[in-house]
Amino acid sequence: MILVTGGAGYIGSHCVISLLEKKYDVVIFDNFSTGHKETVETLSNYGKVKLVEGDLNNYQDIKSVFENNKIDAVIHFAAFSQVAESVKNPQKYYLNNVCGTLNLLRAMLEFDVKKIVFSSTAATYGEPEYIPIDEKHNQNPINPYGQTKLFIEKIMDDYDKAYGLKSVRLRYFNVAGADEQIRIGEWHDNETHLIPNILKSTFGSGKTFQMFGEDYPTKDGTCVRDYINIEDLVNAHILALDYLNRGGETNFFNLGTNEGSTVKEVFSVCEEITGKNIPLEVKGRREGDPASLVADNSKAKSVLGWNPEKTLENSVDSAYKWESKLQNM
Ligand code: UFG
Repeated sequence: MILVTGGAGYIGSHCVISLLEKKYDVVIFDNFSTGHKETVETLSNYGKVKLVEGDLNNYQDIKSVFENNKIDAVIHFAAFSQVAESVKNPQKYYLNNVCGTLNLLRAMLEFDVKKIVFSSTAATYGEPEYIPIDEKHNQNPINPYGQTKLFIEKIMDDYDKAYGLKSVRLRYFNVAGADEQIRIGEWHDNETHLIPNILKSTFGSGKTFQMFGEDYPTKDGTCVRDYINIEDLVNAHILALDYLNRGGETNFFNLGTNEGSTVKEVFSVCEEITGKNIPLEVKGRREGDPASLVADNSKAKSVLGWNPEKTLENSVDSAYKWESKLQNM
């Protein structure tokens, strides 16, 4: 049985559906601080999935999952992930992300579970020193969110040396899109991400899309990001699990496409796919946004055998279909 923390959230739920399709039994552990119960109900239609509602900051909550289930490996998504919020309220991030993970690792050690796939981030690299960013790039996070993920990566190294706990840390670039069959998708109550925000502006009740900054040193003045499709991203988690099950050593991989798109390019793809003229307002820069972030994904390809296939158009298309469904929920 695989324990998925944060399995009711955006990335976690897409991972759960993929595990269920591959006939894994899954236990979801989630406190529903950002995830949704409706998502778990949907997931339960596709295989053997158990839900435990609990908080990683309460050791007894997570310990009971290991007491009551035979857990073989853990995929750990549960975390707060908003950069701006982490700057305003770092304590919330350190307590939840770092202390919560320490409790999870403590329970794993207590029950002799030694395999974990961890959701890390490109934000651990900080301001890029070169592009594309490979895994040898220095890790100097510029915000508390990135710091929490880097601390956890370091803790995992120490736990491997001392206790033999093997981890695969997946450093995500910009995750986009929804399940191809539109059963689930990106669902944040307070949306901050680019693609859903552009798409929300196509609906009657939507606000004018705000573009943050067009004076960056990039080809059209807007920020460049590497948009990786959610289904491709999730496949890397399954491959990481296989890698650990084959006895793979602790490792870390970038998950991106090797290609960057500017905010203006993403906006045009959204207008093309939706067939709408989307209302746009250009604002000043958003604090803390680096000009460009693009992954070098060759390590994940060569070591894990990962092969991301989907385009930005595929991601926008599924995101739009999901957003249309969400508007009527
Ligand atoms: N943007 C807008 N308008 C919006 C939302 C975003 O112009 O309404 C711009 C941003 O300024 C940025 C780009 O679109 O230039 C992408 O922004 P997102 O918020 O979608 O994504 P980020 O690159 O800021 O953040 C993502 C993840 C973080 C992670 C980070 C790693 O959401 O969790 O990548 O760098 F930390």
